[in-house]
Amino acid sequence: MEIKKVGVVGCGIMGSGITQVCAQSGYQVVVSEINDELLNKGLSSISSFLTRGVERGKVSQQDKDSTLARIKGTTNTKDFSDCDLMIEAAIEDMDAKQKIFAELDKICPKDTTLATNTSYLSVIEIASVTTRQDKVLGMHFFNPVPLMRLLEVVKTIATSDETIEIGKSFGESIGKTVVVAQDTPGFIVNRLLMPFYLDAIRMLEAGIASKEDIDTAVTLGLGHPMGPFALRDLVGIDTTLLGVNAMFNRTKDPRYAPPNLLKDMVAIGWLGRKTEKGFYEYKG
Ligand code: 3HC
Repeated sequence: MEIKKVGVVGCGIMGSGITQVCAQSGYQVVVSEINDELLNKGLSSISSFLTRGVERGKVSQQDKDSTLARIKGTTNTKDFSDCDLMIEAAIEDMDAKQKIFAELDKICPKDTTLATNTSYLSVIEIASVTTRQDKVLGMHFFNPVPLMRLLEVVKTIATSDETIEIGKSFGESIGKTVVVAQDTPGFIVNRLLMPFYLDAIRMLEAGIASKEDIDTAVTLGLGHPMGPFALRDLVGIDTTLLGVNAMFNRTKDPRYAPPNLLKDMVAIGWLGRKTEKGFYEYKG
């Protein structure tokens, strides 16, 4: 089926980026948040990112304006009633995601494809609350969405081949390079990378090296664009803990067991850039 209108649930770090790339690629996008404050914060982050793109000469002012004109913000999920594709980018919490999918299943046309941007949760468990499990897939984007070219399309045991093709061709239409993974914990990237990031935190806890030196060693020694601590601050310490808890609970693999430092930081609200303090400080 042809996708003309996209609905995005959540306008946070990931939802705003997903909204931007879809609108920038010519789609009409409706994006929702739970209240006007969070919605306006997400919409302004899209506008700011595009403004920086204009300043860098990456985006024309006209492209910025036409992109923003294709985005409609809402706090009313009934505005998704004519969307051809839904992409959920809400909190990494199974109960919350299942509530959203049960609602979308009632609101959206029967042929609408329902995608979740979950990083670590079971896509089939999310799909289980819908009456269209063949039309549910994972579409896992990477932060920052406008700059990261990869999209992981995730196939559950019930996802139809047609739905996977829809996910792949849509991903390519918004400029992503698509890989396909089975619905297993962490899909491809996080399954491989999470133990690496947790080992970096365990290395810090053991006093083997400073966070600055570990980040420097990884960027210069391994060619990563960001070190593990800078990246976790970008992605969010809370998101990281939610993710590794989900992976550890599903695999019981000690490589995914969360270090105490991660739990302690979440307990006192050191969540990374979004709270201006994580492993590093980000005043202003
Ligand atoms: N608009 C358009 N283009 C922009 C832009 C903007 N607002 N801001 C930056 N750019 C462009 C720059 O012009 C530059 O383009 P060029 O290479 O063609 O000149 C490019 O983006 C890089 O930008 P910068 O040079 O300003 O910044 P960096 O070199 O530091 O790159 C980064 C920024 C791309 C975020 C890089 O630091 C990076 O790749 N970091 C790693 C991010 C990562 O690993 N993400 C995955 C996290 S895990 C995840 O998301 C999974 C999920 O489950 C949580």
